[in-house]
Amino acid sequence: MMRTQVAIIGAGPAGLLLGQLLHGRGIDTVVLERRSAEYVLSRIRAGVLENITVELLEAVGCGKRLHEEGLVHGGIDLSFEGRRHRIDIRALTGGRTVVVYGQTEVTRDLMEARRASGATTLYEADDVSLHNLDAKNPKVEFTREGRRETLECEFIAGCDGFHGVSRTSIPASSLRTYERVYPFGWLGILADVPPCHDELVYANHERGFALCSMRSRTRSRYYVQCAADEDPAAWSDERFWGELKRRLDEKTAAGVVTGPSIEKSVAPLRSFVAEPLRFGRLFLAGDAAHIVPPTGAKGLNLAASDVGYLSEALVEFYRERSEAALEAYSARALARVWKAERFSWWMTSLLHRFDDQGDFNRKIQLAELEYLVDSRAAATALAENYVGLHT
Ligand code: FAD
Ligand code: PHB
Repeated sequence: MMRTQVAIIGAGPAGLLLGQLLHGRGIDTVVLERRSAEYVLSRIRAGVLENITVELLEAVGCGKRLHEEGLVHGGIDLSFEGRRHRIDIRALTGGRTVVVYGQTEVTRDLMEARRASGATTLYEADDVSLHNLDAKNPKVEFTREGRRETLECEFIAGCDGFHGVSRTSIPASSLRTYERVYPFGWLGILADVPPCHDELVYANHERGFALCSMRSRTRSRYYVQCAADEDPAAWSDERFWGELKRRLDEKTAAGVVTGPSIEKSVAPLRSFVAEPLRFGRLFLAGDAAHIVPPTGAKGLNLAASDVGYLSEALVEFYRERSEAALEAYSARALARVWKAERFSWWMTSLLHRFDDQGDFNRKIQLAELEYLVDSRAAATALAENYVGLHT
């Protein structure tokens, strides 16, 4: 039998960051992760960090490599109708920027910080189940190395992603969910070639959306809109590069350096929110509670801001024995979540090809893109959401 103050389910960015935020305030945690550490690090996902996320990583001593290797971006580009237009985010937001630094690196830095702090992380913990959630002594059961084990705790943080066990442990009658599934996905590749441009390029094209992103000055990340059930094996590197270039304006396409892919995968697009983020002593954070389509680059940033709020609430509980901040957590986090849901839905609607969209909606998309690049007011609305709203 093991004991801890806060049991954290999931060693993704939400779980690991929460663990370090609590550790720094003297609160004991155990992290339970279904996969191996290597598997968690092999998932290629987010690339864009808001300032709020950067500040939380700095607060747990994970700012050094991020500042050395992360790329500070003060703008993004929109490509449509054969031309590329820059949105000057820095100028439109009074100097704010984002940092391009891969989720894999964030996770690696957090894993290393956790290892150095001596806190317990149990990888390859199978069949995790949650019990006594509405009592003061919840517990978690799991199987490790063939043995069923029990972890007693005072709180459980459900940071186990969309397919985790935490959200589904809440009785359906105590949870309301909101969902939109998009009829397409993103096919992404990673390649050790220099990026085609020094900032991210989001492209709206008749053939579908495309995104030019990066992980460093020598590693590129590209995406093209594809069918939701697309098989990545059907895409040779040549086919991918050809399709990508067809969807970009001439200048951007000319900058694309091709090379062998080192990863290729399809991600579905979904908007999802579960409310509230609490059931008794279980708190949900990150993808366990909500999903955004990746178009707005918000998922990892919401995971970070959720655990920022949750750690403050738990610290207040242990310091003052007051439940006030824990009671406020769900509403506080959801206020930010819904604004990011709106922005991500809007960016997705603006930039993708919808098979049933018809000529009228296509013209509306193009009019909105023109408005964005012509109007400082419209561009400011995009910019302030992209760098992240404060609440
Ligand atoms: P996860 O990263 O999913 O971590 C959950 C962990 O829990 C996993 O390690 C999982 O193995 C574990 N787990 C699951 N079930 C169990 C269980 N039963 N027991 C124990 N452990 C369990 N976000 C951005 O902010 N910016 C971007 O640019 C961006 N780009 C993206 C691009 C793509 C292609 C994709 C797919 C996502 C992107 N995102 C982006 C979203 C971002 O990756 C996620 O929002 C982020 O990973 C959420 O972190 P999390 O810790 O909540 O969940
Ligand atoms: C990425 O680099 O993976 C990335 C960047 C921006 C997005 C989505 C994904 O909006």
